[in-house]
Amino acid sequence: MELRFDGKAALITGGARGIGFATARMLAKGGAKVALVDIQGDLVQSSARKLSQETGAQVIGVRADLTVEDDVRKMAASANEKLGAVDIFVSSAAIVDDKLFLDTSPSDWHRMLDVCLYGPMLCLHGLLPAMIDRGYGRVICLASDSARLGQARLSSYAAAKAGVIALVKSIAQEVGKSGVTLNIVSPGATDTEMRQERETHMREQMGEEKYQRRLKTVLRMYPTGRLGKPDDIAAAVAFLASDEASWITGQVLSVNGGFAMP
Ligand SMILES: NC(=O)c1ccc[n+]([C@@H]2O[C@H](COP(=O)([O-])OP(=O)(O)OC[C@H]3O[C@@H](n4cnc5c(N)ncnc54)[C@H](O)[C@@H]3O)[C@@H](O)[C@H]2O)c1
Repeated sequence: MELRFDGKAALITGGARGIGFATARMLAKGGAKVALVDIQGDLVQSSARKLSQETGAQVIGVRADLTVEDDVRKMAASANEKLGAVDIFVSSAAIVDDKLFLDTSPSDWHRMLDVCLYGPMLCLHGLLPAMIDRGYGRVICLASDSARLGQARLSSYAAAKAGVIALVKSIAQEVGKSGVTLNIVSPGATDTEMRQERETHMREQMGEEKYQRRLKTVLRMYPTGRLGKPDDIAAAVAFLASDEASWITGQVLSVNGGFAMP
């Protein structure tokens, strides 16, 4: 089955790199016009140029901080003006905070909840009305298996992502008849800049020998014997974004090499 997105406009937050960028590439190769949105202004512009050159698709880069209401409003307006009505919304932007809960502070929790829960909420609130009016929409929010299972050192991140799962399921119930579907993709450990940054920090803290032992232990937890690649996750997002997935809504799809089978 070849998934096609001809004529569709997709907006992807956190699209400058990682899973967001891999998803953008897959949708663009399938014929979609793409808006990459990211807080990293220079990176989002260079990623947009790269994607357009690689695929020939119409791609725009939009700098926005998703925790700022005005940025989100401008982001939606800009995509609408340059690409037309948004058909596909992928929420991939996130941060992580690798600390024990008791070492975190209220300001850490606020930032985490702002980026990982309030940000997707603002975007959904801004983008859904037009999708409902047009009777078509595909929404995919990236969560994490840490939200389903809990994960030491990621408590506020896991809590925010659990909130996203509850949010998406609830809205999916509200808008089910409108032709708009909302689903969650929940990745296991995937080799992106986000993970690399976290691993570098861990390696420095643990020292090489202990870090290598930990890496082997982590890999043993994955029945498929490897960590995820951004394209592994993007493929699941692309399927849920396709016309073929019209009867799937309110679901959580773990894409995790068998790490957990919740
Ligand atoms: N990589 C993994 O192992 C993994 C595992 C589970 C879940 N996930 C989830 O998958 C998604 C993508 O992760 P990734 O590994 O590609 O991350 P990444 O860090 O490589 O990319 C995330 C992007 O979000 C952007 N961003 C952060 N805060 C923002 C803000 N306030 N406004 C706009 N943009 C902002 C960053 O600049 C970055 O480009 C995230 O939602 C993440 O939680 C990733």
